[in-house]
Amino acid sequence: MSEGKGQTMWGGRFATTPSDIMNEINASLDIDRRMAEEDVAGSRAHADMLAEMGILSAEDNEAIQKGLDLVTGELRAGTFPFRKELEDIHMNVEARLKELIGEPAGRLHTARSRNDQVVTDFRLWTRRALDETSHLVTGLQAALVRRAGEHVATVMPGFTHLQTAQPVTLGHHLLAYTEMLERDRTRILDCAVRLNECPLGAAALAGTGFPIDRDMTAEALGFARPMANSLDAVGSRDFALEALACLSIAATHLSRLAEEIVLWTSPQFAFARLLDEWSTGSSIMPQKRNPDAAELIRAKASLITGLYASLQGAVKALPLAYAKDLQDDKRLTFEAFDTFDLCVRAMTGMIGTIRFHPETMRAAAAKGFSTATDLADWLVRELGLPFREAHHVTGRIVALAEEKGVDLAGLTLLDMQTVHAAITADVFNVLTVEASASSRTSYGGTSPVRVAEQVAQWTQRLRLE
Ligand code: ARG
Repeated sequence: MSEGKGQTMWGGRFATTPSDIMNEINASLDIDRRMAEEDVAGSRAHADMLAEMGILSAEDNEAIQKGLDLVTGELRAGTFPFRKELEDIHMNVEARLKELIGEPAGRLHTARSRNDQVVTDFRLWTRRALDETSHLVTGLQAALVRRAGEHVATVMPGFTHLQTAQPVTLGHHLLAYTEMLERDRTRILDCAVRLNECPLGAAALAGTGFPIDRDMTAEALGFARPMANSLDAVGSRDFALEALACLSIAATHLSRLAEEIVLWTSPQFAFARLLDEWSTGSSIMPQKRNPDAAELIRAKASLITGLYASLQGAVKALPLAYAKDLQDDKRLTFEAFDTFDLCVRAMTGMIGTIRFHPETMRAAAAKGFSTATDLADWLVRELGLPFREAHHVTGRIVALAEEKGVDLAGLTLLDMQTVHAAITADVFNVLTVEASASSRTSYGGTSPVRVAEQVAQWTQRLRLE
C-alpha cells in the first residue's frame, strides 16, 4: 500500500480513501467541535497519567502539554484550523498537536481509544451544561419570586377545567411555578451527580493492558471515581438521556407558564400585557400584540421532548458496546440544551417585565360565583349544616342568583332566607373575593399571609436581598 493513500488516521489497512458522501455522513466535526476544550482537558489528564505511570517519558509529556497550551490558545483566539476531512474533534486536536510538536503527539493515544475519549469529553460537556442550566433556572425562579412579592394580595380567578373555581392570589399562582422549577433544578443537579464518573481508560471497550491509573485521570478531571465497567463506560448514554429527560420535564413547566401568558395577554382575558420588547406585531393587523416568545416556548417544549425520544431511539436497541449511532447523541443533546436555555432566558425576560392588571383580574375573580364554596363553608361553620347539605343549599342560592342576573353578593338577605331561613347578614362578609382568598390560611394556601411567608422564604433561599 502506497504512502498517502489512506490519509485518515485509521487508514493503515485501506487501499483507497472514503468517498465524499461517506465522509459527509461520517464526519461529526461541525457538532463535536463544541467539545474542543473538553477534549484538550481529557488529553492533558491522560498524558500526565501516562507519564506518571512511566508509559510516556517526562519529556514527551512536557512537549504534549506545551503543545496543548498552543492548541488551547488557538481555540480561544478562533485561529484553530478545524478540518472537516479529519472527521471529528478528537482527530482534529491530535493532528494539530502533531503539526505543532511532531513525534510525541503520536504517543498520546497510547492506552486510550476515541470510544472512551469521546464519552469522557461528552460527560465533561454535559456536566458543565447542567450546571449552567441550573443557574438559569434559578434566575427564572428569582424573577417569579420578585413578581410574587409585588402581588401577594392581588386577587385573580383560580381555575379548574379553565372554569372559574375559587379566588386565588397572583403571588400564589406565580410561586406554584417557582416550586415546579425547584424540582426541575434539583433534578438537574441530581443528574449531574450520577453522571460524574469517568469513562477514560475503558479504551475501545475492554480496558487496556498498559498499567494505567484510572483514579488519577478521574480525579484530574473532577470526576468522583472511574467507571467500574469498561463496556458500560463506552456504551452507555443514560447520563445524556437523563439530562434530556430533566430538560423535557422542565420545558413542560415552561410551556404551561407560556400558555398562561398567551391566555392572560389575550384581549379576552386582559390580565396582563407584555412590554413591547416581548411582543411582536402583525404585518396586516395593526392592533395586534402577539406573545410570540411564549408561543415558541410552548412549541419548543415538544421539540426538547422529541430530542429525548430521538436519543432513546438511538440507544434502545444497541448491542454493547460502542456503535456509531452514538455519534448523534451530541447533536441531540446540544440542541436540547441550546433550546432549553433560550426558552428559560426568554421566560425570565417576560416574567420580569410583564405588566399585570390587578383590577381586571379582580373583576374576573368575582364572576362565575367564585365564592360559592365560601358560602357553603359559612353554612357549615355558622349554622352547623353537614357539608353535603350546605353544598345543596348553596347550589340553590347560586341558581337563584343566576335567575336574577346578579352575583352572590348581589342577592338580598331575604333572597337567601327563602332558600334557608337561618341565614343571617353575616354571610355577606365571606362573599367578597378578598375575604375568600384571605380565609384560605392553611399551610400552602392562597391567603396573602401565607404567600407573604413563602415569598420571604424564597427570597432568603435565593438570596435575593
Ligand atoms: N466521532 C465519534 C463519536 O462521536 C468518536 C468515536 C469514534 N469511534 C469509533 N470507533 N469510530 O462517537
